[in-house]
Amino acid sequence: MSARVIDGKAIAAAVRERVRGEVVAYEAEEGRVPTLATVIVGEDPASEIYVANKHRACEEVGVRSVHHGLAAGTTQNELLELVGQLGLDPDIDGILVQLPVPAQIDADAIVAAIDPGKDVDGLTPLNAGLLAHGTPGLVPCTPAGVMEILRHEAVELEGAEAVVVGRSKLVGVPVARLLLAADATVTICHSRTVDLAATCARADVLVAAVGVPRLLGADAIKPGAVVIDVGMNRSEDGLCGDVDFEAASGLAWAITPVPGGVGPMTIAMLLVNTLEAARRRSRG
Ligand code: GUN
Repeated sequence: MSARVIDGKAIAAAVRERVRGEVVAYEAEEGRVPTLATVIVGEDPASEIYVANKHRACEEVGVRSVHHGLAAGTTQNELLELVGQLGLDPDIDGILVQLPVPAQIDADAIVAAIDPGKDVDGLTPLNAGLLAHGTPGLVPCTPAGVMEILRHEAVELEGAEAVVVGRSKLVGVPVARLLLAADATVTICHSRTVDLAATCARADVLVAAVGVPRLLGADAIKPGAVVIDVGMNRSEDGLCGDVDFEAASGLAWAITPVPGGVGPMTIAMLLVNTLEAARRRSRG
């Protein structure tokens, strides 16, 4: 059996097309367009590329975006001041401080200072708490993208065994919360999990978000599973995921490739969140 390869680019394109239409309607109603502000501290080349891609995606769907590039030596207080100003700026709907930030800055303190209504990453304590509470506000983009893929592929989640590998605040924990809200039975694995492969092999839906190249092989895949690989790792032979794609696609029913699976969904969901934040602010 060879797994169906899920086309994340196509699903993301459909989401972006939907957002483009909704932005036109928003502008007609409100006389303004949703606006995203991004912040990078320092000159991390990967962050520069990610953020440039976010701005291009905004432009394509008619969302305005502004960028603040701060020097590597920016202090915590200077960044807090900017985040505070953006929170008060009536023209700004979404704020995204690209992570990681340099060592002199406490990322948690910065995230906590973002206006929760403009927190398009869904990372503030309020939005994380609302998600845990089962009444989501703004939901982190990659987890939202994973759920959009599962919806698009009509994957039955009610009663399914879902295993998430990784417990990060950005992906692992929020995706587990969303799967739980969709009535899956959810297990979260992490670096101390005793028998990782055996636990993963129980999964009808396996979500790998751990950042270790090809960590999960054939022994971690249940025949007929849906495998969602959030990993984006640089290896000698190019980008690869957390799942051994060749091995897993011999067993799974469907699998996301790396690249071209979950990656494109993250930016698409950022656009969804920016529009959603703008709508919520307009409703007051
Ligand atoms: N760094 C890597 N991914 C992300 C993301 O989704 N949001 C932010 N703010 N920083 C990141």
